[in-house]
Amino acid sequence: MTRMTTVCLALALLWGCDTAGTGGVVSQRLFGEMPYGQTVDLYTLTNPGGVELQAITYGATIVSIRVPDRNGVLGDIVLGFDDLAGYLEDASYFGAVVGRYANRIARGRFSLDSETYELARNNGPNHLHGGVRGFDEVVWSAEAFATDSGAGVTFTHTSPDGDEGYPGTLAVQVTYTLTPDDALVVDYVATTDRPTPVNLSQHTYFNLTGDARRDVLDHVLTIDAERYTPVDSMLIPTGTLAAVAGTPFDFTAATPIGTRIDTENEQLRFGGGYDHNFVLARDGDGLMRAARLSEPTSGRVLEIYTTEPGLQFYSGNFLDGSTTGKNGHVYGHRFGFCLETQHFPDSPNQPEFPSTIVRPDDVYRSRTVFRFSTTPP
Ligand code: GLA
Repeated sequence: MTRMTTVCLALALLWGCDTAGTGGVVSQRLFGEMPYGQTVDLYTLTNPGGVELQAITYGATIVSIRVPDRNGVLGDIVLGFDDLAGYLEDASYFGAVVGRYANRIARGRFSLDSETYELARNNGPNHLHGGVRGFDEVVWSAEAFATDSGAGVTFTHTSPDGDEGYPGTLAVQVTYTLTPDDALVVDYVATTDRPTPVNLSQHTYFNLTGDARRDVLDHVLTIDAERYTPVDSMLIPTGTLAAVAGTPFDFTAATPIGTRIDTENEQLRFGGGYDHNFVLARDGDGLMRAARLSEPTSGRVLEIYTTEPGLQFYSGNFLDGSTTGKNGHVYGHRFGFCLETQHFPDSPNQPEFPSTIVRPDDVYRSRTVFRFSTTPP
């Protein structure tokens, strides 16, 4: 019997292990049932150090990430719900994969190869996060794996031609790999049979204090961006790239999220706080650091690396205490933040922005790495 099989059998006695390798283990169990009867599964990824990630097939949603604080105490650093019903009712995209197009497309319309496409409008007159029934609301197929380099799960979904107004059949694959050195690697792959815009992202709300009992305003943020894309009152980019220097959007040096969030500034007024895309200062198209977060009381640190050109920093402005999440915790104003790696919003209508069009001969590939650590007191 191999060591891997022994580990699996030992863990199976405890909590139903399916897949194990020296880099971690994955277990699977039923999470809930959709109203029409389809089952939704929960995958639990655990690395050798005890860091744990849970994700469900509904929306390829990350439902928990448990990482140690500086004293080694595990805490859940993402917002979400205890059961499927919470996710079915939710309109805030907690933990989900968003697509086909993360963020907004103005007036739910774009032209491509001299044809105009009308998309679902679900954010005033605009299209947001893939439409009325985006990738956050479908049940994905899943396959677990465990190797020496990590434990993971690959979610797959095929979006039919015309889905939410988009052209082409789009085959999408999202893989979460939890590595032995406490990183979550998110890999996106997509192919299409007709040209179509694609912009996939992950919409996890983080609160590094653990178990989200307070707002995130004391979290100290660095964003590796010297420019951002200013927006109009409906959060559609104006098309210009503005310098962050001298504005509340300058996070090139580590600054608490709350320091300038309520200052008088038209852009902050439009967003109700931060809800803006930052233009990452990239050199080439490889993996580069986009942001670093540290939380002073727990010592938890999150660093984000990506191959994407942009990062949406959303400071949880629409959370207002009307949502009760895991363990009965009420999610108040700014109790979580999202850092969504992406192409820029409304790129299909902005010829100057990096293109989001994928053609039948292309393979869309994108990678984001969330790296967890702690600082000493
Ligand atoms: C995104 C948007 C926000 C908001 C949230 C969901 O991050 O940029 O404006 O719609 O999703 O509440």
